[in-house]
Amino acid sequence: MKLDASALRYLSRDHFRVLTAVEMGMKNHDLVPVELLARIANLRHGGIRKFISDLMRHKLLHHEGKVYDGYRLTYLGYDYLALKVFVARGLIAGVGRQIGVGKESDIYLVNDDEGRRYCLKVHRLGRTSFRAIKKKRDYHSGKGSPSWLYLSRIAAAKEFAWMKMLRENKYPVPVPVDSNRHCILMQLVDGTTMTQVRQMGDDIVENTYDYLMRLLERLGRNGLIHGDYNEYNLMMSDKGKITLIDFPQMMSMDHPNAKVYFDRDVQCIVRLFRKRFNYVRDDEDALPSFEKIVAEMSDKRLDNEAKTHFKREKLDADVLEKALEAMQLEEAQACSDAEESGSDAGGASDAADNGATDDESDSEEAAESNEGVEQGSRRKKKAKSKNVKRRVQKEMTDRRNRRRKGKTSRNTIKNRGRRNVAQAIRDS
Ligand SMILES: Nc1ncnc2c1ncn2[C@@H]1O[C@H](COP(=O)(O)OP(=O)(O)OP(=O)(O)O)[C@@H](O)[C@H]1O
Ligand SMILES: [Mg+2]
Repeated sequence: MKLDASALRYLSRDHFRVLTAVEMGMKNHDLVPVELLARIANLRHGGIRKFISDLMRHKLLHHEGKVYDGYRLTYLGYDYLALKVFVARGLIAGVGRQIGVGKESDIYLVNDDEGRRYCLKVHRLGRTSFRAIKKKRDYHSGKGSPSWLYLSRIAAAKEFAWMKMLRENKYPVPVPVDSNRHCILMQLVDGTTMTQVRQMGDDIVENTYDYLMRLLERLGRNGLIHGDYNEYNLMMSDKGKITLIDFPQMMSMDHPNAKVYFDRDVQCIVRLFRKRFNYVRDDEDALPSFEKIVAEMSDKRLDNEAKTHFKREKLDADVLEKALEAMQLEEAQACSDAEESGSDAGGASDAADNGATDDESDSEEAAESNEGVEQGSRRKKKAKSKNVKRRVQKEMTDRRNRRRKGKTSRNTIKNRGRRNVAQAIRDS
């Protein structure tokens, strides 16, 4: 998906107020009615219409009026909210071309006002299989279905936390710069993924193989399994320096299926080197062994540190884990369906092209749930709306206070942060 940030400069504070109000309203509504928006944004009912129509014109909001009249954020609208924060922090001044596209994310080149280039990863969870997630409500502790917005935000927060933790422990991962909502800003890695590396000298092949296996073992001893350790997530520079990317699916060595995932990671490397570089190790018995690593586990358990961190940040990491599992299952199902029917395995891309269909099913579900609300008692509704209002007001006040507090030192913090990041990137 192209990230056209050109409208950013034409939008006023009030436009962003409305956009933020939609985001807040979406915490309890699939579609946010205009009356609620006006209340949250604290704008007159008449006045808000103009901002809404501008936001609709720029495709930042989606409107539905069939059964229930209201608005929801589009992917682009959510992107704009995150971009606005990075711009305010002085980290992004321009969005460049798309440099990568993953199953669940888009990757862009961005730069700050001093010309430093970064990589922006925008999580778009559920783009391909949102319908599966919404159907599999059971994993969401009975609170109704989570939105793509919510899942993408957890994926980004989780990935950023992993990246920070790994970097602090001297793992070869990109320098994490900042994160907001479903976006992560990180160092732009110098190199390409190993999918593009066709040839290597014999000694380099051997060294790289050893290095990758040692890296897997080291992660294991720290209690971690990457879970997607293959040529798509390993980058290599001209000089042969390896950088590991892509961590939302990372898991603990205590996971019930840890051995399966660990062995799968090992086999991905064995297969890659055999097929691509014709390299087969004589001593295949000496492959990293799950049992041996468990026996040699280090005291520094990063998986436990992460668990504490996610808990402290109130990050619903389990919801994401289950959603990712649901997606993997659906993907596997789609592949086997395609194989059975003899068609080419285009399930995922078909689903990606079918954004509108997903929207339709979303709206049907929205309609169902709204009917449910209609049937509820008036008193319940009134109390609920009072609660929402109170929460919204509290959040607004908190934000205002935070802004006020930060005002005096914002520039100092900004400059200090930038210097630290630039230094870390130079050192890497
Ligand atoms: N820090 C970075 N610097 C340069 N390029 C990057 C960086 N991070 C990611 N990329 C590029 O973007 C692509 C997708 O990134 P990533 O693997 O993180 O996304 P993903 O959605 O998780 O992918 P998938 O699920 O398909 O593995 C990578 O293959 C790589 O080409
Ligand atoms: Mg990847």
